[in-house]
Amino acid sequence: MKPRDRLRIAMQKSGRLTEPALDVLKRCGLTFRQSRDKLFCFGEGEPVDLLLVRDDDIPGLIAQGVCDLGIVGRNVLDEFKGVAGDAAAALTEWRPLGFGRCRLSIAVPQDVDYTVPKDLDGLRIATSYPGLLGQWLRRNEVDAAVVTLAGSVEIAPKLGTADAICDLVQSGGTLVANQLRETDVLLQSEAVLAGPDTLPTDERGDMIELLLKRLDGVIQVRESRLLLLQTSRTSLDAVTRLLPGGPQPTLLPVAGQPDQLMLQALCAGEVSWRQLEEIKKAGAREMFVLPVEKMLA
Ligand code: PRP
Ligand code: ZN
Repeated sequence: MKPRDRLRIAMQKSGRLTEPALDVLKRCGLTFRQSRDKLFCFGEGEPVDLLLVRDDDIPGLIAQGVCDLGIVGRNVLDEFKGVAGDAAAALTEWRPLGFGRCRLSIAVPQDVDYTVPKDLDGLRIATSYPGLLGQWLRRNEVDAAVVTLAGSVEIAPKLGTADAICDLVQSGGTLVANQLRETDVLLQSEAVLAGPDTLPTDERGDMIELLLKRLDGVIQVRESRLLLLQTSRTSLDAVTRLLPGGPQPTLLPVAGQPDQLMLQALCAGEVSWRQLEEIKKAGAREMFVLPVEKMLA
């Protein structure tokens, strides 16, 4: 295979991860010529192209070296690593991306008695995740039959093809609609940036490193707010104590008001009205909460 000089990222063609994945790439400065109906999207600014595929295919494409990176659910990545064994051992989760949160859980019909995993002994469990379910069953020494289905797992108990299921749960709506009760969580999942353990030693490796740095900025920024306020020097301690977590605030003098200070603090996470009101009570005024657009440490 001729070595590529452009980076190739695999992501889900259409599904829950598609829009947020494109959004995160865009925030990293990556935009693509629009050909969303196609398999391949050419990157405009940077030498990075997209391959739009079925999410289940993403880990395999990275393992084979067809793609350098992939945006995929941890559930899909871990299932692949469990099933593919050695071939997949060199695949790593480079960054959690904070969207597409869901969990892989066992659920049983609402009228079934269940207290401990051992209660599943001798039952049939339908799932699209035979690898992860198999691991969990072994770990809990449960002797159950795994019924592997490609989709519509939740209706298996009603159809009589299984007694319980092991499936993804996000809102829980699907379980409720099918009179199922969640009993055990096997895996907490979210979208991750996956790639090989070791970076390529050519320009693609450099590009991945650059991308990871931008991504760290994007993730940090998404959760950051800049808080600006004025306080008197005497209230400074009380105000500072109430600031939501983050690095040390910056203090600036206020022209013509030697007893006043301008305080600037980077906060990790939302700053609520309630927090602002508390800080104001401690002596702050002229308060602003600003979103952060870009950050480069
Ligand atoms: C997943 C999963 C459940 C549903 C759970 O299916 O298999 O059916 O989402 O979400 P909820 O808890 O918010 O109801 P998905 O929509 O990905 O389709 P698929 O089953 O065809 O993969
Ligand atoms: Zn799915």
